[in-house]
Amino acid sequence: MSWDHGYFSASSYTCGVYRELAPAWLDLSGLIKGHQPPRSHEGEAFRYLELGSGMGLGLCLLAAAYPEGQFTGIDFQPDHIVHSRRLAQQLGLSNISFQEADFLSLAADPGELTAAHQYVVAHGIATWITEPIQRAMLQLASAMLQPGGLFYCSYNTFPGWLAATSFQHLAELSRRRQGEANPAQAFQLAAASLTSLLGSEENPSALALAQPALRRRLAQIPDQNAAYLLQEYANAGWQPLYVAELHQRCAAQKLRFLASATLPENFLDLLPGNVRPAVLAETDPGLRQSLQDLAVNQSFRRDLFVRGVASSTDSQLRQRLGSIQLRLLEAPALETYRFETSFGQVSGVPERYRQVETCLAGGPRSFAQVLEDTELPLAELAKILALLLHAGRLGIDRCSSADFDRARHVNEQLLELIRSGRPYAHLVAPASAGSVPFSLVEALLLDGQRRHLAGGDLEQHLQDELKAMGRSLKGDAAPVVSAFLERQPRLQALGVLP
Ligand SMILES: C[S@@+](CC[C@H](N)C(=O)[O-])C[C@H]1O[C@@H](n2cnc3c(N)ncnc32)[C@H](O)[C@@H]1O
Repeated sequence: MSWDHGYFSASSYTCGVYRELAPAWLDLSGLIKGHQPPRSHEGEAFRYLELGSGMGLGLCLLAAAYPEGQFTGIDFQPDHIVHSRRLAQQLGLSNISFQEADFLSLAADPGELTAAHQYVVAHGIATWITEPIQRAMLQLASAMLQPGGLFYCSYNTFPGWLAATSFQHLAELSRRRQGEANPAQAFQLAAASLTSLLGSEENPSALALAQPALRRRLAQIPDQNAAYLLQEYANAGWQPLYVAELHQRCAAQKLRFLASATLPENFLDLLPGNVRPAVLAETDPGLRQSLQDLAVNQSFRRDLFVRGVASSTDSQLRQRLGSIQLRLLEAPALETYRFETSFGQVSGVPERYRQVETCLAGGPRSFAQVLEDTELPLAELAKILALLLHAGRLGIDRCSSADFDRARHVNEQLLELIRSGRPYAHLVAPASAGSVPFSLVEALLLDGQRRHLAGGDLEQHLQDELKAMGRSLKGDAAPVVSAFLERQPRLQALGVLP
């Protein structure tokens, strides 16, 4: 076996950023289930470890948003570590370090890695590595966590991925036959070959009848990014899991399931009416998670585990939850409130959501203040806020802990890198718990504004700059410019832009 243990290491990973990895988001997810967060208040010093930190962008943005944290990224792919270290240096971050290391060897000997982290995270790794490596990763996560600390682990699940297993199997056979010369082509051949086994829509084969979702999934393959397909499927350890399987493996390392960082999943009463009674009737919490996943055909989970539950009393919960500051990110008070969740579309009673948003319209307020003003029951308010956070209408506010000057300095460096063609589509948002999406187009428009361009000149600037980079807009420039001008004041209020 080579150094990568069958993990696809022939190319670098994408530069993804995930809001659920922010310490404030993790704290809130745990608090919803009554766990006292590892930080007693926002602004307290902490240690944060990311296992499989990839290109390092997400971790750098967190290090910029949380100057009081010490961040460490681990990855065995040297290209990733070189990229991550250079990025941290370019952004002028001193509270972050990246280490080139393998989970397997670190689990046996953690060397200089200090234990007692408040947070350990592993996003998109557990079900892409072989079982022995997964065991080592979970063992390492547990060993690095202080008692009461939070471990975030996201992974692909069954039954949602069942239809894709036959494709992944054939894709791997096809890749082995083609050799490594053109792995992307091997994937297309496998998709075409499997499609031909489905029969027609009118006369479907036994496979198509047994797996009706497979046809749709295969139809998407030709349009999917080749790099994504390779990263997703070309790993010897590719193996989605049923929730109970991963929970058992975590439990074997003293990591107990606590909550979901996909906030709506913590509220089982949001399940569709046709399956809710059956799931709620199950009294064993572990089994209930399994029933929930089966009922909604779950394909991805963002789970939070604890090494030792620090349960809160009711007053501790009210006090800590009450101290969380919330900020409205969109114009308040919609006609209707519909949320896309893994449980399907959820509708909220508009009056209550409007009441909460109106309360936040004047500026950031604490959970306790919103509770007092709206007079909603605590559990009801927690659910409303979870859905609004999930939909991106609210953000968690770092208030006095945010270091605006430092974040703006980091953002200036990021803007320069984005304009130079780096695929970093985010900026640090000091008032929100981490970062916000920010596109190349927006970076070019901001640059145009700084050159005192407006109207048609600004649109022309955007077109010219994109052309110089060998790119172009799909549609008209005018709506793109107006969308940016509309968004700009919100980004300024968040401290993202000066
Ligand atoms: C799917 S990527 C996710 C990267 C990052 N967390 C993200 O979401 O953008 C998995 C990462 O784990 C790293 N990795 C896989 N196996 C590893 C091992 N045995 N030891 C250390 N890192 C590993 C890979 O190099 C890759 O960067």
